[in-house]
Amino acid sequence: MSRRLAWVIILTSGVFAARASFAQQKRPYNELMKDVAATYASIKKNLDANAAPAAAADAAKLQTLFKDTEEFWAQFKTKDALDAAKGAQDAAVAIAAAAKANNLQKAQASYSGVGKFCNGCHTSHREQMPDKTYKIKP
Ligand code: HEC
Repeated sequence: MSRRLAWVIILTSGVFAARASFAQQKRPYNELMKDVAATYASIKKNLDANAAPAAAADAAKLQTLFKDTEEFWAQFKTKDALDAAKGAQDAAVAIAAAAKANNLQKAQASYSGVGKFCNGCHTSHREQMPDKTYKIKP
């Protein structure tokens, strides 16, 4: 069985039963978010350690993760979520550019600017369930 078909079956028969469109995902959205959070934390760690090349590599990865985030939200056409995903990509590009230029202070400033996109989207489009898991609110 192909990987894609396996995911379609898992997603359509599981918690997302009512939402066939989720089957179009490359991978579950919460996994993408966990990767976003880990990469975001790694950027900070590397910036604080003055490890500019590593921070630049993390920032480039964060940009692709937010590109995937944007692609995910495209199916719902949720404008503010799409804007947050795009704004976060731009901020990630700015971090990478500053880190590559070894301007760590500027990279730190761009890093701090990403937080508002995380928080904005979570406030509007994430709902915590009684079991502490999260639900997507398009
Ligand atoms: C465009 C909207 C959007 C943006 C931008 C966004 N998130 Fe999320 N995030 C969500 C939604 C919706 C969920 C809930 C879905 C889920 O967890 O399945 C979520 C869940 C999470 C989770 C919980 C994952 C889990 O289930 O364990 C973490 C951690 C997270 N986000 C971190 C971040 C961080 C850090 C950033 C910014 C660097 C960020 N997110 C930016 C929408 C967004």
